[in-house]
Amino acid sequence: MSAVPLQPPRRLVEFTLDGEPVRVPEGSTLLDACRAAGKDVPTLCQGDTLTPKNACRVCMVEVEGARTLAPACSRRAEAGMEVRTDSERARHSRKLVLELLASSTDLSTTPRAAEWIEEYGAEPGRFGEDAATVAEEPKVDNDLYVRDYDKCILCYKCVDACGEQWQNTFAIAVAGRGFDARISTEHDAPLTDSACVYCGNCIEVCPTGALSFKTEFDMREAGTWDEERQTETTTVCAYCGVGCNLTLHVQDNDIVKVSSPHDNPVTHGNLCIKGRFGYQHVQQH
Ligand code: SF4
Ligand code: SF4
Ligand code: FES
Repeated sequence: MSAVPLQPPRRLVEFTLDGEPVRVPEGSTLLDACRAAGKDVPTLCQGDTLTPKNACRVCMVEVEGARTLAPACSRRAEAGMEVRTDSERARHSRKLVLELLASSTDLSTTPRAAEWIEEYGAEPGRFGEDAATVAEEPKVDNDLYVRDYDKCILCYKCVDACGEQWQNTFAIAVAGRGFDARISTEHDAPLTDSACVYCGNCIEVCPTGALSFKTEFDMREAGTWDEERQTETTTVCAYCGVGCNLTLHVQDNDIVKVSSPHDNPVTHGNLCIKGRFGYQHVQQH
């Protein structure tokens, strides 16, 4: 149902990726090149609908001759570069990033985190039992979505989605400094007293599950959330004439959350409160 936007042809840039010559369209990132070549570089703060923020540093790769490692998600490919995705230095950097994140936050709902921790031999427990953790109770202050900042890696994606990159609502921002830095509403007010319009666009981009539908939060608490039993059906929102695509995630005949395809030229993965949360009328039991 998605249209493919036409773009002017781009020149190709040739460089070396893990010893193999590759060619990518000018302007591509190293991550684009890695994915085109079938290389699995971990990412967390990168999002296909957002401008990279370089916050998590889990995607670092080594560029021959450069003093520091480069974030693959934002570094553009240049002709003649020699890039190594799997060097000892790059792997060590990813290991350390995963250890720091997993020792201070709860990555239990971050897709692939456990796999990467094993792959890179990360040992989050090596900082000891006294390692500082975020240790926050989930904020459940409305019926639509939950903020569990115990799981927040401060990737800023929600801030960008709520602010200048998509929603222009600016309901949330970073408050505090250093280890006390947190994502917060103004004056840490409950969401219901904030500028939030409940579009849920922050939930859509959150890579860790720190932001989730209340349905998902409740089902996880009850032990009934099971993505393997869920189906996804994409349809068109009937609330107005814009024609947003909605993907309905259904478990046991109930809609449990709603998203939108990121490549949809109307929504780019974003929705308003009606499309995102206005589905209860189709399943009143
Ligand atoms: S639901 Fe929308 S308005 Fe509310 S915090 Fe998230 S992105 Fe901002
Ligand atoms: S709540 Fe999610 S999207 Fe926002 S900064 Fe934390 S991890 Fe990133
Ligand atoms: S994914 Fe590249 S810095 Fe986070």
